Amino acid sequence: MNAARSMAAALALGASLVTPAALAAAGEDFNFMPKGGRALLLETIGSTPAQLRPVVQSKRTEAQWREFADAQGKRLTERERATLAAYLAVNLPVDGPLDSAQQLPRDGRDLAWEECQSCHSLFSSHLTQERSAQHWRNMFMSPFHRQMKMTPREREEFARYSELNMPMKVDEVPPDLRF
Ligand code: HEC
Repeated sequence: MNAARSMAAALALGASLVTPAALAAAGEDFNFMPKGGRALLLETIGSTPAQLRPVVQSKRTEAQWREFADAQGKRLTERERATLAAYLAVNLPVDGPLDSAQQLPRDGRDLAWEECQSCHSLFSSHLTQERSAQHWRNMFMSPFHRQMKMTPREREEFARYSELNMPMKVDEVPPDLRF
């Protein structure tokens, strides 16, 4: 698709300008989506800097993070453990002092909610898509996505989260987001 056509498509898709802020105003939030690695980490080890620091400032392989996630036992489902291990492997260690959980890198759910809805709906572009991580990485190479202000690490986090957690079933998505 050439630049003019993709711009036209962007404008057509963007006509209703559904932004996260507009959705928040309409009472929608992302809690219907499977939790991402940041949410799972806070849920399992706690959210104070003292609880987080020893974990997020260490560097381990994904296999080692998988052991860490598995050690959380039945508190997490199999898919959640894989999601958590992928998040930790992609995003850690966090450099510099950690004073608040807010400094943790955004996870795949955060990124989808905040970065994908300004041009088109999340339902058709993400929630209903069954793709491998590589297929999601390729999505970022198209002319209209290459310019997005997401770092390589955020793109990788998004790809890993999405492979593990998408597609959702239609009836798990709030009706007013099914467009
Ligand atoms: C800057 C605007 C913009 C943003 C932000 C954006 N997209 Fe898109 N996206 C487009 C346009 C334009 C198209 C082309 C629509 C068409 O196919 O007619 C598109 C198409 C798609 C498609 C179908 C074509 C393909 O590449 O496979 C998918 C899937 C998709 N977007 C996913 C996403 C996801 C996931 C995000 C967030 C990580 C996102 N988009 C963010 C503009 C955007």
